[in-house]
Amino acid sequence: MTDKELFRMAVEASENAYAPFSNFHVGAALLTEDGKVFTGVNIENSSYGATICAERTAMVKAISEGARDFQSIAIAGNGGTSWPCGICRQFMYEFCPDIRVISGENEDELKVYTLKELLPEGFKL
Ligand code: THU
Repeated sequence: MTDKELFRMAVEASENAYAPFSNFHVGAALLTEDGKVFTGVNIENSSYGATICAERTAMVKAISEGARDFQSIAIAGNGGTSWPCGICRQFMYEFCPDIRVISGENEDELKVYTLKELLPEGFKL
């Protein structure tokens, strides 16, 4: 699975986003070490604070299905760049501080960081 393919899956997933308040449709595609992909979307709520981001949706799906080892996550917002918010960085740090985080304006202009680069000195008990 290439970064480009994973980003395409994030863009496709974003079609299922529920984002009537922001109209910012986010998709995430999370690749496990053994090659499975879990996708996620942002799911907004009339009580705005109850909104969940695409990255956490994908992580929650994966963790609850027993996955624990992750290679990469690609994220697309309205088809282009969307980097994880602070809550999502911390949420992912619990499981995979070394995961590769991929986003970009389109599939030919992707940037990649490790989660540790995006969240230096993240919190972990
Ligand atoms: N959002 C995500 O899904 N992921 C992020 O990391 C940033 C923000 C969503 C939350 C909300 O539904 C919309 O984008 C605008 O903030």
